[in-house]
Amino acid sequence: MSSSSPAADHSEWWRNAVVYQVYPRSFADANSDGTGDVNGIRQRLPHLATLGVDAIWISPWYPSPLLDGGYDVADYRNISPRFGTLDDARQLIDEAHALGIRIIIDIVPNHTSWEHPWFVEAMAAAPGSPERDRYLFRDGDGDSPPTNWIAVFGGPAWTRTPGGQWYLHLFDSSQPDLNWTNPEVRAEFRSIFEFWCNLGVDGFRIDVAHGLAKDMSFPDISESTAVLENAKVPDHPHWDRDEVHDIIREWRGVLDRIGAEQHRDVMMVAEAWVAPESLPKYLRSDEYHQSFNFDFLTCEWDAPSMRDAIVRAIGAADTVGSTPTWALSNHDVVRHTTRYGLPNGTDWRAWLLDGPHDICDAEQGLRRARAATLLLLSLPGSTYLYQGEELGLPEVFDLPLEVLDDPVWENSGRTRKGRDGCRVPLPWTPDGVAFGFGDAPPWLPQPAIFGALSATVQRDDPDSTLSLYTAALALRRRHWVGAGPLEWSDHFDRPESQVLCLRRDDLLCIVNFDVEPVALPAGELLLASAAPTADGRLPGESAAWVLTS
Ligand code: GLC
Repeated sequence: MSSSSPAADHSEWWRNAVVYQVYPRSFADANSDGTGDVNGIRQRLPHLATLGVDAIWISPWYPSPLLDGGYDVADYRNISPRFGTLDDARQLIDEAHALGIRIIIDIVPNHTSWEHPWFVEAMAAAPGSPERDRYLFRDGDGDSPPTNWIAVFGGPAWTRTPGGQWYLHLFDSSQPDLNWTNPEVRAEFRSIFEFWCNLGVDGFRIDVAHGLAKDMSFPDISESTAVLENAKVPDHPHWDRDEVHDIIREWRGVLDRIGAEQHRDVMMVAEAWVAPESLPKYLRSDEYHQSFNFDFLTCEWDAPSMRDAIVRAIGAADTVGSTPTWALSNHDVVRHTTRYGLPNGTDWRAWLLDGPHDICDAEQGLRRARAATLLLLSLPGSTYLYQGEELGLPEVFDLPLEVLDDPVWENSGRTRKGRDGCRVPLPWTPDGVAFGFGDAPPWLPQPAIFGALSATVQRDDPDSTLSLYTAALALRRRHWVGAGPLEWSDHFDRPESQVLCLRRDDLLCIVNFDVEPVALPAGELLLASAAPTADGRLPGESAAWVLTS
């Protein structure tokens, strides 16, 4: 294990952590080939340390044909040559630890890439062979696939092999699903966890955690469901099945054992798109440490809706002694600065292609985004930030169709643009061929507006979004972490309206969802997402932290 890992501890560090998601392809390009890399992350660690994050979560960095942005893994124990080497990763882990930043990596256990040696062997092997048994190959009915299951990215979930059998892929055809009833598959993943723990990583984000287990009798589905919606169908043949919990407990056993041997807490967080009543099962004491809570990825700009989302998440975590998690954006959704610029009710996935694009009010979006950030950071539990949100980056909704890379575009029959607009490489400097991302044209083009939003420009501006995040994280650490449970306090000005006011001990977070200013509670104003009005009130669509004693 890395010698410089954060001090040996069992502090359950993840319970209050601010975790920053790095999408390695788009973070920083040290070797100037147009694609981000591990050395780029190393070079930009000072940015993350100054920002004040506790950990970074790195989206998949493994060898991969990148047919789903790296969520198609060809080798789970290596780094993609596009991104660097294992040695670079080791150095990154050490350097991050030296700055007090922990590392969470992404594990993709539901499927591999079709370039994974196991799948190459399976395709070359006969039906019924042990090689095929690591995946889910089945005979169809003539030209019809074995079941009517639909892939998340569109089209049938089965692809026919030249020999006639079909293999299952809940996502793209380049992502064949593993057979989790196969003991070799289970042993392989236990060993993958061990490998990365021994390299010093501190946690794992588990992709499609509600997948993995399938109904091995392969029935048809009577009701179609999409992955980015809660799986509400009872006894669904491939989402949220009871058998998945045995697998999770097995992994937890590995992490607990290694944690005990190495005197530290190694955590795992689930990407589980399940119905709210199912979620606590994933958080039992011998399962996940945390699960993402996706409510804020879809919640509209509306006080009661936000309040409900908060109450629900805290309640669900409380029932199992876990702590809630919060996120406004990630690499799969339209950036929240843009979502908040759209009228409530807009289907933002469809809006990317269909428009009309002039209904987006960018200033309103940024105002609301800054306020929502203060709300999230005042809540108990941990917060996941997505790279670039600290710069207030908008979604790049107008990427030319010919540069789109997300499989969603083709697999939806070119009816959905997909997720590239939130994956555009970050701007670090106001100019240059890639705004400081690297010295070559980036793999997705950046809009001109990125120069003014670059980190260097914002660092020197006390009113910038970057300065707001930096101040908020420092104050959060000082005041909110460790503060008591959340209570709602009706703000005197607008008792039952579009104003949320929450209290934890002597700290208040007040969020004004309305457009008119409201009075600020008495006390010391620690931070506000917008300057108070001339008469000292909190402007519309903004938030403030107030210390009351
Ligand atoms: C998860 C990832 C997403 C990926 C999918 C398939 O939902 O967040 O980016 O496409 O899994 O691995």
